[in-house]
Amino acid sequence: MNLKNYVRDIPDFPKEGIVFKDITPALKSPEAFKYTIDSFQELVKDWDFDAIIGPESRGFIYSTPMAYNLNKPFIPVRKPGKLPAETISFSYDLEYGSGILEMHKDAISKGDKVIIVDDILATGGTTEAIIKLVEKAGGKVVGALFLAELTSLNPREKLTEIKVESLIKY
Ligand code: PRP
Ligand code: MG
Repeated sequence: MNLKNYVRDIPDFPKEGIVFKDITPALKSPEAFKYTIDSFQELVKDWDFDAIIGPESRGFIYSTPMAYNLNKPFIPVRKPGKLPAETISFSYDLEYGSGILEMHKDAISKGDKVIIVDDILATGGTTEAIIKLVEKAGGKVVGALFLAELTSLNPREKLTEIKVESLIKY
């Protein structure tokens, strides 16, 4: 399965000069979606972790089937103002802007090892922010999985402490 055939470039979205990687074809195809989740599960089969973090919103799509299949807790990391209980937050830079991410304070217990599952690894800012959030909560991110990675943005420079795997490299 060549997953690259299921990701399309959309020029000038959401801003001029940004070439957006549209993953919706990789979701519209049940074969591509199944291949993605199966590949992720194969990659983590020897990893030791307690829970799976999904970053809103596209990360939810890939992280929840993993949590379901592997029978692991699912922890949402969300954009500000969405989570109802007490939160911890962290600001981060994105390829096309900046933002804040939040997680429930009680989502992680001290010493928990977690992995992140998201669609795209671009600057690594989102993943780096989640690593900090999890540290604040007393846990540790041990690895992260992505459908696609934009290697030209050098995201791995920010992520030297964790295992990083991506199925497609641009
Ligand atoms: C996109 C993408 C990743 C992140 C990658 O999410 O889904 O989560 O950016 O970029 P980075 O490595 O530079 O941080 P976005 O915040 O655009 O929101 P969405 O998932 O809600 O569409
Ligand atoms: Mg996202």
